[in-house]
Amino acid sequence: MSYNLLKGKKGIIFGALDNKSIAWKIAERAYDEGAVFTLSNTPVALRFGEINQLAEACNAQIIPADATSVKDLEHVFTKSMEILGGKVDFVLHSIGMSLNVRKQKDYDDLDYDFFQKTIDISALSFHKMLQVAKKLDAINEWGSVLALSYIAAQRTLAGYNDMADAKALLESIARSFGYIYGREKHIRINTVSQSPTRTTAGSGIKGIDGLLDFTDRMSPLGNATAEECADFSIVLFSDLSKKITMQNIYHDGGFSSMAMSLKAMTQYNKCLEEEDNL
Ligand SMILES: NC(=O)c1ccc[n+]([C@@H]2O[C@H](COP(=O)([O-])OP(=O)(O)OC[C@H]3O[C@@H](n4cnc5c(N)ncnc54)[C@H](O)[C@@H]3O)[C@@H](O)[C@H]2O)c1
Repeated sequence: MSYNLLKGKKGIIFGALDNKSIAWKIAERAYDEGAVFTLSNTPVALRFGEINQLAEACNAQIIPADATSVKDLEHVFTKSMEILGGKVDFVLHSIGMSLNVRKQKDYDDLDYDFFQKTIDISALSFHKMLQVAKKLDAINEWGSVLALSYIAAQRTLAGYNDMADAKALLESIARSFGYIYGREKHIRINTVSQSPTRTTAGSGIKGIDGLLDFTDRMSPLGNATAEECADFSIVLFSDLSKKITMQNIYHDGGFSSMAMSLKAMTQYNKCLEEEDNL
């Protein structure tokens, strides 16, 4: 159902790769809610992903960019304002990648060149985006900027590796820049800490199947899906959330407030019984 929550709003959506991507779902939802926007991803993602289908369905133009490059980002913001006919109202950062995770390097045996890339792609790119936008004065007053995070920023999760450090930095950037952009331009900056979700990036997490089952059993409302994340992101882009800024908001069915649930305990006890019977 559409509520026209983004009618008349312009935006930029970074990070839609294929139809499992959280950014893809957010783009579809933003379109349904009346927004016009551009899409951006790396040239490699444009070659191997399916973003053209999304662009067609949402009547959006694609602007290639490596989000670690300030020059590329300047191009995305300048070109977006040209295409959309003015400043934007919302920006989505839905970008993450760790070569240490991909190459299965353990946290106590990290490759530091990879580590720097993780930080640059998954966190610094958010600062670069914000700094470029501010210098170009590319976002309208009361605009909304959102990045996607994960609970590993606060709590240690086996296998999340250097992405945990990147997410901690990402959330900190949202607060630090949120203060400055809010004070000067009333622009709000938040991160949404999403449940584990089966996407290309999500599938890189070690033991994703077990993790999805565990978090689902632990969360009173169950895991939040990518579609539900899209619904919530639309609210954060809309005028209905004008005074929310510098927050990391859990969108995880209650997982972040749990220590043990009946469902998880039952499963755990079953495993103990099986072990006793061995
Ligand atoms: N899937 C999950 O379990 C989960 C949970 C919480 C948060 N998140 C976060 O959601 C965001 C989106 O991930 P997703 O799960 O939709 O996976 P995804 O693989 O669909 O999206 C990741 C995107 O990052 C892009 N990207 C990588 N390097 C880039 C670069 N240098 N410049 C520009 N773009 C680049 C990829 O091309 C891809 O489109 C990420 O920040 C991820 O950490 C995911």
